Amino acid sequence: MESKRLEISGYAVVGDDDRIADASGMMPDSLQNDAEWEFFQAALDEAEITIIGRRSHDAVPNHKNRRRLVLTTKIRSPETHGNVVYWNPNEAPLTSVLSSFSTNARKLAVVGGQQVFDHFLTGPTRFDHFYLSRIEGVTLPGGRGVFGAVTQNGLTAEEVLVRANYLKKSHQVLATKVTVANWEPLS
Ligand SMILES: NC(=O)c1ccc[n+]([C@@H]2O[C@H](COP(=O)([O-])OP(=O)(O)OC[C@H]3O[C@@H](n4cnc5c(N)ncnc54)[C@H](OP(=O)(O)O)[C@@H]3O)[C@@H](O)[C@H]2O)c1
Repeated sequence: MESKRLEISGYAVVGDDDRIADASGMMPDSLQNDAEWEFFQAALDEAEITIIGRRSHDAVPNHKNRRRLVLTTKIRSPETHGNVVYWNPNEAPLTSVLSSFSTNARKLAVVGGQQVFDHFLTGPTRFDHFYLSRIEGVTLPGGRGVFGAVTQNGLTAEEVLVRANYLKKSHQVLATKVTVANWEPLS
């Protein structure tokens, strides 16, 4: 099969304090918004593979039976279960695990959570785009930051992205108090 250049896009939705989940580790209703959901689902429809952490995979039903690449530390070699492939990035590179799917995928959508976003923020298979959606007026005290450094070092998501050499390329209003910013790596 002809190999194509991958396009890796990340999608996160946060409140004012850059948290993707509340203090119990769950994504609350306050982060759900129809316009943002529509934007997110359109992106997933366009992507050939969704890349997701094992906890989010367990928590979010795969109603559309999308191809999912699930990160986990619990295995060494990739395991395939229908449209779902479990992958340990410490054991195999992304490019090799993609051959486990019956498609020559180019567009990949990374949907978190935190460690998964951290994984694709830097390194050889980093984001080409990181879409940070924000619901204004929502705060999640003690919640899970979109990146580890938000929770651990008290940085904003913007500071983390700038330190990782990303630049904000565009900013779109999806609805009242709902925006999405597209960040791209500088090189
Ligand atoms: N607001 C948002 O945009 C957003 C996005 C995503 C998720 N969420 C919410 O956040 C919550 C879960 O997120 P989370 O951050 O706690 O968990 P998560 O990222 O969904 O899953 C974490 C698990 O993924 C595996 N994993 C992650 N990075 C890995 C790596 N580099 N190498 C190997 N395995 C790796 C590990 O699985 P094992 O334990 O199997 O080793 C880890 O325990 C859910 O409530 C979800 O709905 C919100």
